[in-house]
Amino acid sequence: MSGPALKDVLSLFRSQLAVSLPIPTASFAGETVIVTGANAGLGREAAKHVVRLGASKVILAVRTPSKGEDARTYIENETKRTGVAEVWTVDMSSFESVKAFARKAQDLERLDAVIANAGIWPTKFETLENNEATITVNVISTFLLAHLLLPTLRRTSIAHGTITRFTVVDSALHKFATLKARKSPAIFPALAASLSPKDYDARYMDSKLLVLLYGRAFAAATPLSGPASTSVNSNGNVVLDFVNPGYCVSALRGADIPLGERVGQKVMARSTDTGACTLVDAIRPLSEKEAKERHGAYVDDMKVKKGTAWLDTKDGKETQLQVWTELNEILEGIEAGVTGGLGAK
Ligand SMILES: NC(=O)c1ccc[n+]([C@@H]2O[C@H](COP(=O)([O-])OP(=O)(O)OC[C@H]3O[C@@H](n4cnc5c(N)ncnc54)[C@H](OP(=O)(O)O)[C@@H]3O)[C@@H](O)[C@H]2O)c1
Repeated sequence: MSGPALKDVLSLFRSQLAVSLPIPTASFAGETVIVTGANAGLGREAAKHVVRLGASKVILAVRTPSKGEDARTYIENETKRTGVAEVWTVDMSSFESVKAFARKAQDLERLDAVIANAGIWPTKFETLENNEATITVNVISTFLLAHLLLPTLRRTSIAHGTITRFTVVDSALHKFATLKARKSPAIFPALAASLSPKDYDARYMDSKLLVLLYGRAFAAATPLSGPASTSVNSNGNVVLDFVNPGYCVSALRGADIPLGERVGQKVMARSTDTGACTLVDAIRPLSEKEAKERHGAYVDDMKVKKGTAWLDTKDGKETQLQVWTELNEILEGIEAGVTGGLGAK
């Protein structure tokens, strides 16, 4: 893996500068939707649209309740719908917090869709829960949440004969990842080793590649059950996909971004609202045909696209298997039985 191909760079520019995206119109009537990191940026705007589109309950999953309450007020003012958005606490840097959040969600009457949007791009090396911070928040906690919410998504799918959805917010920058840690005997321990500030910036790209590596294997291990399955013995139909919102205005990179990047943002970045529309499209109710196409897929500009070509190389496939095996072991260490006995695929 030696960085992005020229065609990837060109398609990134084309996507940012020439693609115009529609505002979602799909109805979420009657649905319950969770958005993590819903107090700011893409998550807050996505939650606003889901409320606007008629959802019955939208859970703003945030680490600071007061910020969640501010977001709820903003969403109510924007949509003129009250009593829909609820603020729940989850801190993705703490596995106990993720587990407590998921336990509460298990009591929901239904859960139709989740946008796993909370993410970080830190500027200095830090460890959280014995792993590097970006890996803990963007990868381990994200998939811990996915496994813990899967039974509730399945239960909803079976009870209503519907297709439920879990979308992880990914990034086109996964194509810029180098994932040097894959050359080590074990990837996650290597990722936990300290890095110089110069190399550290690349960790975000690695985290977004890891989302695709684990996520594709996860989707393969949890196939859809087929036409509107209401059999309690089935797995239901839970679509797991990965969305690239494009380069958008947000606080992700903090206030101190270099001048060149600030100029780039002015010229290239989508508005936060436009980026959020891609998240809403990713978790909208799907037809059976769309569900088949989207399960395990990378969604970009509201269409299923190929991720980096490296994923389908021998190295990519071997790395995917290793990431799947290692992360399942980590997740089992956090909560025994959480992967439901999913073996390595
Ligand atoms: N903006 C882009 O150009 C872009 C492009 C591709 C992908 N993405 C992805 O889009 C997602 C949203 O990013 P954004 O651009 O909207 O950035 P943002 O404005 O910084 O929002 C990130 C959200 O995640 C939350 N969060 C961070 N750490 C958390 C934790 N430990 N527990 C719970 N919530 C936490 C933040 O909460 P606090 O406010 O409390 O920190 C905030 O609500 C991320 O996954 C990012 O990687 C963004």
